[in-house]
Amino acid sequence: MSQQSSASAPYDPFEEFDRHQGAETVRDPYPAFAAMRRAAPVHRVNLREMLPPGAPLPPGAADIVWVAVTHDAVAQVLRDAETFSSTGYAETMGKVMGHTILEMDAPEHGRYRALIQKAFTRGALERWEKELIGPLVNGLVDRFAARGRADLVRELTFPFPVAVIAGMIGLPEEDHDAFHRGAVELISVAIDWERAREGARKLREIFARTLEARRREPRDDLVSVLAHTELEGTRLTDDEIFAFLNLLAPAGAETTYRSSSNLLFGLLSHPDQLDAVRGSRLLVPRAIEEGLRWECPLVSIMRTATRDVTIGGVEIPAGGKVSLNLGSANRDETRYENPEEFDVFREPRAHMAFAFGPHRCLGMHLARMETRVVLETLFDRLPNLRLDPEAEDVHIAGMVFRSPRRLPVRFDPA
Ligand code: HEM
Repeated sequence: MSQQSSASAPYDPFEEFDRHQGAETVRDPYPAFAAMRRAAPVHRVNLREMLPPGAPLPPGAADIVWVAVTHDAVAQVLRDAETFSSTGYAETMGKVMGHTILEMDAPEHGRYRALIQKAFTRGALERWEKELIGPLVNGLVDRFAARGRADLVRELTFPFPVAVIAGMIGLPEEDHDAFHRGAVELISVAIDWERAREGARKLREIFARTLEARRREPRDDLVSVLAHTELEGTRLTDDEIFAFLNLLAPAGAETTYRSSSNLLFGLLSHPDQLDAVRGSRLLVPRAIEEGLRWECPLVSIMRTATRDVTIGGVEIPAGGKVSLNLGSANRDETRYENPEEFDVFREPRAHMAFAFGPHRCLGMHLARMETRVVLETLFDRLPNLRLDPEAEDVHIAGMVFRSPRRLPVRFDPA
C-alpha cells in the first residue's frame, strides 16, 4: 500500500490490486492459440521478440520457450514428470515464496505432498464449507442484497477466496487485514517483484505468530495440522510451513477469484444457460467444470526438460523451458466440439484447468466447493440476477491469468 493511500483513504485491496496490475492485458488470445494448434503441437518462441524493444524479461524467465498448445502435447508433458521437471519454479516463484511443493520433483515432492494433503481431507472441506465459506459468502452478499445492483468481482469474487484462506490457516481476526495486504502484494509476483518480496516478508511475520501459538496449543486449523503432522518421522520445518502458506495466496486465492468470476461471466452473458442452471441445481457442477474448461484462470504453467526429448515431432533440448498452454489444450478441437463456445450442456470431458499428474492442483475440491457455494448463494438470495443492461464492454482479459475486471449486475432487492 502506498504511503499516500494509507494516509488518505481506507485500505481497499481491490483498488490496490487493480492499481498494480500494470501492463495492458490481452483480450482474447484464443484465436491465436487456435492458429498455433493448426500449425504444430509445440512451438519454439523467443520471448524477447514478443516484448516491446528494451523491455526486460520477468526475473528468472528464459528467453527461448517451447510452448505446447494441443491437448496431447500438454498431456504428454504432464504425464512424464521425470522428463519434465518442476524445479524451474525455484528461479521464479521460489525466490519470493521459498521452497514449495510446486517446485519439487520426486521423491521429495511425494513426501511433502502426502504431509500437506493431510490438511485437505473431506472432513476438513465439509467443516470449512459450513463454518467458514458459507458464512463468509453470505456476509459479503448481505452488504449489497438490498441495493438491487452490485459489482460481483469487486464485492464478492475478489475478496472471498483470500478471506477463506486466512480462515483456513487459522489466522486471528486482527491479522486478517494485514494478511489481505500481504497476500495482494504477493500475488503481484508476475508484475512487481520487489513488492511481492515485501509481501512475503510481511506474511512471514503474521504466520510466525500463529505458528508459535499453535505449536503450544493446537487447534482445528491448517497451521496446527502443518505444525504437528508427521510422516515416516518427517516433520515440516518452519521455513517449509511458511513457504506452503505463502503458496496458498497465489495458488488458492487468485485462481479461485478469477475462475468464479469467469464462470459468472459465462452464465451472465448466456442468459438461457443462467436460467437453466438456476432452475436445475443438478447442473451446477457441470457449469463449474465448463467454466474452468472454457476460460481457465491460469492459462499456462512451466516445466523444464531434463533430457533431449521430442513432443509432437518437435525436438526440445535438455534444459529447455516448456510452457504448457492449459487454456489452448482446453479448447482443442480434436477433443471438444465447438470448443470456443461456453456450453454447460456439453458432454462432460476432463479438462486441464487443474493440470494433472503428480502436481495436479491440491486445492481443486476446495475450489469447486467455493464456486458452488458462490453460485448457490447468489441463486438463493438474488432473484432475477442478470448482467446490468447499462454496463458496457464487460469482458474477460489477461494472458497468463484471465478474468473480467468487473461484473456489474442487477437483481430484485431483498
Ligand atoms: C479454480 C481454482 C484453481 C485452479 C484453476 C488451480 C490450478 C492449479 C494448477 C494448474 C496447478 C498445477 C501447477 C503446476 O503443476 O505447475 C495447481 C497446483 C496447486 N494448487 Fe491449485 N488451482 C486452483 C485452486 C486452488 C486452491 C483453492 C488451492 C488451495 C487452497 C490450491 C492449491 C494448490 C497447490 C498447493 C498446488 C501445488 C500442488 C503440487 O505442486 O503438488 N489451488 N493448481
